[in-house]
Amino acid sequence: MDPSFRTIIEPFRVKTVEQIKFTTPDHREEALREAGYNLFALHAEDVLIDLLTDSGTGAMSAKQWGAMMIGDESYAGSRSFYRLEAAIKNIMGFSHVIPTHQGRAAERILFSSAVKRGQVVPNNTHFDTTRANIEYAGAEARDLVIPEGRQPGVIHPFKGNMDLEALRQTIAEVGVERIPMVMLTLTNNSGGGQPVSMANVRAVSQIAHEHGIPLIIDACRFAENSWFIRQREEGYADKAPLEIAQEIFSYADGCTMSAKKDGLANIGGFLALNDDALAQECRNLLILTEGFPTYGGLAGYDMEAIAQGLEEVLEEDYLRYRIRSTAYLAEALQAVGVPIVEPPGGHAVYIDAKAMLQHIPPAHYPAQALAVELYREGGIRAVEIGSMMFGKPQPDGSETPAVLELVRLTIPRRVYTQSHIDYVIEVIARVNARRDSIRGLRITHQAPFLRHFTARLEPLA
Ligand code: F0G
Repeated sequence: MDPSFRTIIEPFRVKTVEQIKFTTPDHREEALREAGYNLFALHAEDVLIDLLTDSGTGAMSAKQWGAMMIGDESYAGSRSFYRLEAAIKNIMGFSHVIPTHQGRAAERILFSSAVKRGQVVPNNTHFDTTRANIEYAGAEARDLVIPEGRQPGVIHPFKGNMDLEALRQTIAEVGVERIPMVMLTLTNNSGGGQPVSMANVRAVSQIAHEHGIPLIIDACRFAENSWFIRQREEGYADKAPLEIAQEIFSYADGCTMSAKKDGLANIGGFLALNDDALAQECRNLLILTEGFPTYGGLAGYDMEAIAQGLEEVLEEDYLRYRIRSTAYLAEALQAVGVPIVEPPGGHAVYIDAKAMLQHIPPAHYPAQALAVELYREGGIRAVEIGSMMFGKPQPDGSETPAVLELVRLTIPRRVYTQSHIDYVIEVIARVNARRDSIRGLRITHQAPFLRHFTARLEPLA
């Protein structure tokens, strides 16, 4: 792509199309009522632009579909496994590659083998499934992101960085024997999709290794993180994304990966490790629930799609378009006065609903109220990351609210064009213009954990 042009075009043309359905306001009102004002309960067919997640929702390339046709479905020793293993080793360099059906399966297998009751696992910010799997193993998942990473309005080039002093203190207080690993999530999804700098990866690795603790990377969005390093960190402007990724992983002892993100695939994941004994233990567990070590819960064709996806995700034209198009949405929202987490992340723009809907108290779920309005106005589905997801019900019936009330507009990879995004901007601008008339919600039904998936709500008068 010639950088002297102002317009960043999609670096692909469309070969297959999938129709999306336009709905009437009455239809959407009825759909909301039936879904109990919980967007997870909508039929996806009733959604025009689906920004719920970037996980498994990307479009595959003609080369990926082509590779799938020649996938090797052998139970053991599939050629497609060896292709996937080679692609992963080329980028990440770890000696053992263990395929899984998705990211959380890699997490469960790793933590079941390496984490014991009473231990502590530090991370910049644990993603929900990572936290849940560590807690399930009886250990504590501790978030040590830098203070800037907790403040939506504060600009910092690498808001996903780990607080190095806090890491040292944690090691001193908890003791080396109770820290089985240090983790870094690239990019930091729960903190707004914010990147981690190479200097921070290097420093975290050094501190962990000084104490003989392994560093494991949650690599879901490693390619997007590599591009941010190239753009924002001195000395990387002329490096290829592959080289940057290789350097990141050279500081680590292993990784967990959801190939549904930067694997550009609809399903899949893997665990990669250098430690021979640990890898053996993980493979033993893999056989119990996922499958034989050369397919681990995946079809041969899935492994082909991931191997091809891992090559395409590091192409410069793709990454430039990917990161630029997310920033495009963010800039347009700011231009119409919508408050967002700054700077925008790689895979998503997060609207600060607390700042936008100041008249709705956290107890009335302002971020959920905003997400419902986006659907009501224009058929857009986003996801609430606020008190409906993280609020803690108290015995007296009250609730401790979440720190932040965010609505995540998550951009699927290679799916929507600029005109889709222009429409999203128009819808949000309209909702913003009538924000004072938006009312909060009340929960009428909830499950004891992960309630946001199934809760039912009703609008407050
Ligand atoms: N780690 C991170 C940073 C993630 O964002 C996710 C998934 C996982 C691990 C788990 O991977 O879904 O393949 O089991 N994030 C999705 C999201 C679900 O919407 O952010 P998985």
